[in-house]
Amino acid sequence: MPSYFSHIKEVPQDPIFGLNIAFGADKREEKINLSAGVYRTEELKTPILKSVKLAECAVLEEEYTKNYLPIEGDLIYLEEVARLVLGDAGYQGSLSSIQTVGGSGALRLGGEFAKKFLGNSVYIPTPSWVNHQAIFSECGLEVFSYPYYNPDSKDLSFELMREYLLSIPSKSLVLLHVSCHNPSGVDLTKAQWEVLSELCTEKEIIPFFDAAYLGFLGTIAEDAYPIRLFITKKIPFFLAVSFSKNFSLYGERVGAFFLFSNERETPIVTSQLKRLVRRNYSNPPMHGAKVLAKILQTGSLKETWKEELLQMKVRIATMRKLFVEELALAGTRSDYSYLLNKKGLFSYCQLSEKQVERLIHDHAIYLPSDGRINIAGLNKKSIPYVVNAIVAVGG
Ligand code: LMR
Repeated sequence: MPSYFSHIKEVPQDPIFGLNIAFGADKREEKINLSAGVYRTEELKTPILKSVKLAECAVLEEEYTKNYLPIEGDLIYLEEVARLVLGDAGYQGSLSSIQTVGGSGALRLGGEFAKKFLGNSVYIPTPSWVNHQAIFSECGLEVFSYPYYNPDSKDLSFELMREYLLSIPSKSLVLLHVSCHNPSGVDLTKAQWEVLSELCTEKEIIPFFDAAYLGFLGTIAEDAYPIRLFITKKIPFFLAVSFSKNFSLYGERVGAFFLFSNERETPIVTSQLKRLVRRNYSNPPMHGAKVLAKILQTGSLKETWKEELLQMKVRIATMRKLFVEELALAGTRSDYSYLLNKKGLFSYCQLSEKQVERLIHDHAIYLPSDGRINIAGLNKKSIPYVVNAIVAVGG
């Protein structure tokens, strides 16, 4: 066989999903996976929600065709999702809506649109979800980082963030995590969002909201507060929404991209977004979007889903509390009480890369090299084991 591809260099495994592969291959019985941000039950399973199963049955019963969806996606889905996230008023006529392949697909579409029409840069927080940097640079954007999390105070560096954003060119695109910041679990307060909205207006900065964890802190409406604030203030923005976590629809890849703009510009923006989609994957997959729309349109299913989302949140909060209590009892070197006021699935465990390596190598506890842990990967049985391992590596 001739060798046509010998000039290509192999790249390392993905820093998050690569760990799932290593975890799967690990033969040790005590192994624990705290890497990818996936919700797990006390039995460490990621089951299909009851509301999703019921909606799937209804969708399968009712469907009569597998014909293509429009390029922008399922129109009922888009309408329902816009109402769920953005509320009832204030955006009609000003919103371009595209169903996307998960939240990542929405980030990619926004990145491609930005590269084509807005310039060469995007600003992301330090730290951010590792794939932000990767997705945007693949779009040809230069990725800059603005100050966000302060590892010393284990809190937000809001003043530094504000000063930095004041110094960047106008019309810059700035990625903002809407809630449950991944990886730190540190969010802006309402007052800080207010300050930021003023800054965006004055500096003509375009926020690119990433909403992957809506409903993991308060209700969906409460968690979407920043986005709704920007709508009231008529500040144009990009928005990537993921329904992987809050509907537990991970593999169905259910997401949406919204662009809020001046209503004269909206149809033009929509036409360009559709062109980008058509030239990439043509039109999106049907099943997950139909299921989600069914849940949102059916009162009883919506209630069941809300209850299930609440249960996820309660379990995460319980694990977080138990973990911190056990860490305190174990007499760790570091004080971990700061974990209590962090939000969502993730938090930093203040571990060095070396300590993380030892956790994986010596204790079969898998987590990314930055020391981020997925709290939902813990259960009552594994917490003492993880805590002892943290003590053993000097955490
Ligand atoms: C994570 O941050 O672990 C999740 O969002 C899964 C992913 O795609 O990286």
